[in-house]
Amino acid sequence: MKLKNDLLLRTARGEEVERPPVWLMRQAGRILPQYRALRAKLSGFKELVETPDLAAEVTIQPVDELDVDAAIIFSDILVIPEAMGLTYEMVEKKGPWFPQTITNQSEIDQLVVGEAAAERLGYVYDALRITNRALDGRVPLIGFAGAPWTIFCYMIEGQGSKTFSKAKKMLYAHPKLAHQLLDKITETTIAYLKQKVAHGAMLIQVFDSWAGILSAEQYRTFAIPYLQRIAEALPDVPVTQFSKGAWFALADLGSLPVQTIGLDWNTDPAYARALVGPTKVFQGNLDPCQLYAPAEEIAQAAQQMIRSFGRKHIVNLGHGVYPDTPLDGVKAFVQAVKAYAYSA
Ligand code: CP3
Repeated sequence: MKLKNDLLLRTARGEEVERPPVWLMRQAGRILPQYRALRAKLSGFKELVETPDLAAEVTIQPVDELDVDAAIIFSDILVIPEAMGLTYEMVEKKGPWFPQTITNQSEIDQLVVGEAAAERLGYVYDALRITNRALDGRVPLIGFAGAPWTIFCYMIEGQGSKTFSKAKKMLYAHPKLAHQLLDKITETTIAYLKQKVAHGAMLIQVFDSWAGILSAEQYRTFAIPYLQRIAEALPDVPVTQFSKGAWFALADLGSLPVQTIGLDWNTDPAYARALVGPTKVFQGNLDPCQLYAPAEEIAQAAQQMIRSFGRKHIVNLGHGVYPDTPLDGVKAFVQAVKAYAYSA
């Protein structure tokens, strides 16, 4: 497909560009009135995720409304545990809930793994195909998955947690079991992401939302090798690794064969650059709460952030946009970036 706006892909490939591209993590979702209106007519979140025409519709909403430089396919990281055999519910106002979790060896043995699991996610591949047809090359389409460690957290705990101490307990008490489970998640994620690329995902982002609760040593042992395998399995598209809170792992992240490293708002770009080296592209990292400020201040903060990163930068927030963010704040952010021009 010939893209009319390929700024994101040119930047991710390390090319010289005229300005940084901009999109927002969680741009498809509750910040948009059109999302809330559609969502209110449905039985729940999963109906939206599992109905390709509707998933495509909400994927495109932020491109129409916000004029961002990329679309991200509407789905969730939790489709992977579900495909492996652990179904999830999305409980209104509470978040994900898994009736069944992983506690022992025999439960790990019973999981569906790799292509057999990935093949159950046909609705995601259909949504990608339908989205690209409707986008008609306006912007690139991003595909994503959760990182093995973050998926492991949900499969062990069965819901969100402040500490994920049950998941961490397995790393300390049963490291061999932990590696077996991480291996199976990785194999499945690779099969899934290859299908996503085959069906039109042009860049892949891997979300390690719970990276920040591990030590540097644990991240090196239980996360980095699996992220390495995922990145190596996707030679045909740029990969963005977003490990939230993992300032302590920046040097290890810098050695991954990925093009882009996502940074949260706690991480200073110059500090990250010193640890990661000169070649990677960075993505981030405005505090999502900055978007509650007046439009003029948002624009100034965006420009200041762009200057502090220098080149090799994809503009985003440091984590997903919060659902109660004023739409005018989001638009002020996007427009400020789009009005920016790097000086020669
Ligand atoms: O716009 C986009 O970014 C694409 C869609 C997307 C969703 N979830 C839709 C969603 C993406 C990329 C995700 C990733 C995701 N899902 C992550 C990693 C990113 C991060 O935020 O750290 C995680 C940890 C999840 C798991 C998850 N999904 C939780 C914990 C929750 C409940 C909290 C919440 O935000 O409501 C979800 C639900 C969810 N996923 C919603 C959306 C739009 C809200 C559901 C609704 O409409 O009611």
